[in-house]
Amino acid sequence: MPMKKTSEIIWQDTQHQLLFELIDQLKENQIDPGIFAKLNSYAENHFSLEEEYMRVLNYPDAEEHIEAHNKFRTELEIMVAEQHTYDENLRRSLSLFLTEWLTRHVLGIDKDFERFVMESEYK
Ligand SMILES: [Fe+2]
Ligand SMILES: [Fe+2]
Repeated sequence: MPMKKTSEIIWQDTQHQLLFELIDQLKENQIDPGIFAKLNSYAENHFSLEEEYMRVLNYPDAEEHIEAHNKFRTELEIMVAEQHTYDENLRRSLSLFLTEWLTRHVLGIDKDFERFVMESEYK
């Protein structure tokens, strides 16, 4: 497994950065036609890595956490399926969706998980 620095887990932090960047772009009204591809790859790579750690470390709250990831995956799929053009409405709902995710998940239960990993044998 990748090494981490002392204050946070490097891979998790680096991958979360991508989300911060995407939200910044959305807020600055930058239209990125590749945003769904980036979000898909974020969801695929990042969630599966977190989930892999949860399995290896027998994380007690894994089920609830994976459920939240799956909800994100589903909502993203719906947004991709419904998108016809990247317009102001889509930009706004995507911005809202990701900001909520950031607050509730990345700064919420991901932090709990981070603390658990820090206390584990993989710290
Ligand atoms: Fe995360
Ligand atoms: Fe997570």
